[in-house]
Amino acid sequence: MKAIVFHHYGSPDVLKCEEIARPTAGDNEVLIKVRAAALNPYDWHFMRGMPYLIRAMAGLRKPKVTRLGFDVAGQVEAVGRKVTQFKPGDPVFGACAGARAGAFAEYACTSESALAMKPHNVTFEQAAAVPMCALTALQGLRDKGHIKPGQKVLVNGAAGGVGSLAVQIAKSFGTEVTGVCSTRNVDMVRSIGADHVIDYTQQDFTKRGHRYDLILDAVGNRPLSAMRRILSSNGILVMAGGQAGRWMIGPVARAIQASLLSRFGSQKLVGLLARASKEDLSIMRDLMAAGKVTPVIDRRYKLNEVPAAIRYLEEGHARGKVVISFDDSHKASNQIETTSNFRRVPAGLDTSGGQVGHQSRIRGKKVVVRQLPRQDPGHLLKDRRHDLVVGVYLRGKEANFEFLSRIAISMRDPR
Ligand SMILES: NC(=O)c1ccc[n+]([C@@H]2O[C@H](COP(=O)([O-])OP(=O)(O)OC[C@H]3O[C@@H](n4cnc5c(N)ncnc54)[C@H](OP(=O)(O)O)[C@@H]3O)[C@@H](O)[C@H]2O)c1
Repeated sequence: MKAIVFHHYGSPDVLKCEEIARPTAGDNEVLIKVRAAALNPYDWHFMRGMPYLIRAMAGLRKPKVTRLGFDVAGQVEAVGRKVTQFKPGDPVFGACAGARAGAFAEYACTSESALAMKPHNVTFEQAAAVPMCALTALQGLRDKGHIKPGQKVLVNGAAGGVGSLAVQIAKSFGTEVTGVCSTRNVDMVRSIGADHVIDYTQQDFTKRGHRYDLILDAVGNRPLSAMRRILSSNGILVMAGGQAGRWMIGPVARAIQASLLSRFGSQKLVGLLARASKEDLSIMRDLMAAGKVTPVIDRRYKLNEVPAAIRYLEEGHARGKVVISFDDSHKASNQIETTSNFRRVPAGLDTSGGQVGHQSRIRGKKVVVRQLPRQDPGHLLKDRRHDLVVGVYLRGKEANFEFLSRIAISMRDPR
């Protein structure tokens, strides 16, 4: 099978797409025919062996595990003899962790306990986009942040992999959510349910005089003193991400400072290390099945394009998730997606300015424009008479095409 392999730490140039032996499932393991995998900063940290602390477990001079890729979705190919919950053919998603890293391959093996069934209403690409980021967002909000209905929640980094899921998960808990992102992502963050969006290029969210009961910080770019200023008196700051640098000096100093500050006063500043959890993957499956969480896909790459995909992710401005797709038609869908680019009518798609009910054809497919209730893009998939349903919501006279790509992808693979 083809797989991404690396034998030295370094830039994406160390990644090679090679022919290697297909793994075999151990007693408690499942062999998956990979349909999609997703990228995380975690992958490039291991690729670069940075921060250096990683090398203490991953190998001092060179990586002990020569494969990459944590997030996976695909079909069960074979199961170990003690596996009880899955059978060949089942659509699954989950994590290839530790020694079983290797989702960037045609086949991947992982423990039965690291997988859940893929809901029918999301694609393999969407399902692959979930595991690491959703575990981080869910465990951060629920376990560390003790999220409660009615609370005011702020997500810093709301447009990224963790943030775009955190916004939707926080909404599912019945909270009032504020997302922080740059100008180009304001509409997207609003479209996934944020009640308020702060454009960090225009405003410093720590200087607006608003207070929050819970902050999930996936960026870590503001001093803790400023973050405390915008926490309510019993508020909780969950520190999910930040710039680690080579030596982790910044994050370690920040963690020590946070632990000291938490001892005085009623506010809590806590770190987070997400853990694999079958129960939490099942919760995410249910949230997706109910249409409460719809992963946002930014770009798709093929297996041999993993180095380019990692370069893009490393720039730090992915909009939702970057996925590796094994679907041959992904090129066509990419064209739809990248040209949609929110608010702009995609080339070749005549939607008459987003007039609801308007019908047209794109590449021979029947397309219809439907109005989108903001919280429920899932209902558009029920339209069986059309190949593609364009979701718009109308703000004044302006049609907003932000769900185009996601709906398009769902229609392409509606299982
Ligand atoms: N603690 C854990 O267990 C755990 C688990 C997973 C990930 N993480 C960490 O969490 C962090 C986020 O991960 P991710 O997967 O979400 O990364 P990501 O998808 O690469 O994040 C990119 C996003 O960050 C946003 N961003 C960049 N600068 C920003 C700023 N100044 N203010 C607000 N948003 C900004 C970008 O939005 P714009 O383009 O709009 O700027 C972009 O959408 C990383 O540091 C990662 O290592 C931690």
